[in-house]
Amino acid sequence: MSFERSNIANMQGYVPGEQPKQDNVIKLNTNENPYPASPQVQAALEGIRLNDLRLYPQALAKNFRQVAAERHGVKEENIIPTNGGDELLRLALTTFADSGEIIATTQPSYSLYPVLACIQDCNLIEIPLLDDWSMPEDFIDQLNSLQAKMCLLVNPHAPTGKLITVDSIKKIASNFPGVLIIDEAYVDFVDPSESYNCVPLIREYENILILRTLSKGYSLAGLRFGYGIAHKTLANPMMFKTRDSYNTDHIAQKLATAALQARDYVEANWETIRNSRTKLTDALNQLGLVTGSSQTNFVLSQVPAEPGAEALYAALQERNILVRYFRQPRLEDKLRISIGSEQENAALITAITEIVAGQAPRV
Ligand SMILES: Cc1ncc(COP(=O)(O)O)c(C=O)c1O
Repeated sequence: MSFERSNIANMQGYVPGEQPKQDNVIKLNTNENPYPASPQVQAALEGIRLNDLRLYPQALAKNFRQVAAERHGVKEENIIPTNGGDELLRLALTTFADSGEIIATTQPSYSLYPVLACIQDCNLIEIPLLDDWSMPEDFIDQLNSLQAKMCLLVNPHAPTGKLITVDSIKKIASNFPGVLIIDEAYVDFVDPSESYNCVPLIREYENILILRTLSKGYSLAGLRFGYGIAHKTLANPMMFKTRDSYNTDHIAQKLATAALQARDYVEANWETIRNSRTKLTDALNQLGLVTGSSQTNFVLSQVPAEPGAEALYAALQERNILVRYFRQPRLEDKLRISIGSEQENAALITAITEIVAGQAPRV
């Protein structure tokens, strides 16, 4: 007997990347930050007393909203704090998409989107990216002929690492009448020379919702904290109608606020990761794994037929190195590899060198 709604009974749940139990694993499969959060976050954690947890947290996460608003040059009313970026996505779908409506995204894209669309009983349509992973010229026409209610774009893109410009986003926002979600989970790793900043667009475009997370750039994946940035036309219904009354807890609010305030620390971390990204990209290309430039904290590498992506994934796993393999159209010959610490990246390169050379001695 099943009590599930029919769309839930028929759907598959999201399969998260593997979280190994042992310590001796090099974990490059879920785009976590290889370095810890700032000392300011540690101090905020140590400052929390049990008595602080006796009371409910600030319902609207007022202190965090103030700090985030200041950080982005917007008003508090434009910030929507959530339990991870994933909660923001779920909130947006439940608030803005009716069952049966069409939600558009690109192919490939973040693998949670189809799951969220199924939960809401919406139809997710994936518009294929071109071979170089850029958007097709007629992307807006396709969106409009689908009569999509919502469009979900990851920028910089996952899993390819490609960035589209603020101008392209402006063009979509002004010609698409639905809600345009710009999922900026990886934005912190964009090279500053790109001068990429979509936040000011929310003043002009009521239909843009930007997603941010502290999981990647702020090394707090275990905390579960994200937030949206949007005009109050989109922010208010989520803040005051559909959000759980205490969706972010006291500890998370305190730590997230401290994390955003330690700006110098995180900026240095992002620069380190960008430098490692360049080195890793070069090393992978030298080994024959075709790896394009990325603006995120991961790279997407095309693996030659020998050894093949799935076999390389398995051979790395045997050596306790985890990367991500997607058995999906256009990705089955590729691996997504998170940027690790310098030592982790070096160990990965050594392992791939050995596997490719067919020597295969265990490390
Ligand atoms: C593209 C994309 N968006 C959003 C998220 C959500 O991140 P979190 O829920 O950890 O904030 C992720 C996490 O992997 C992601 O890859």
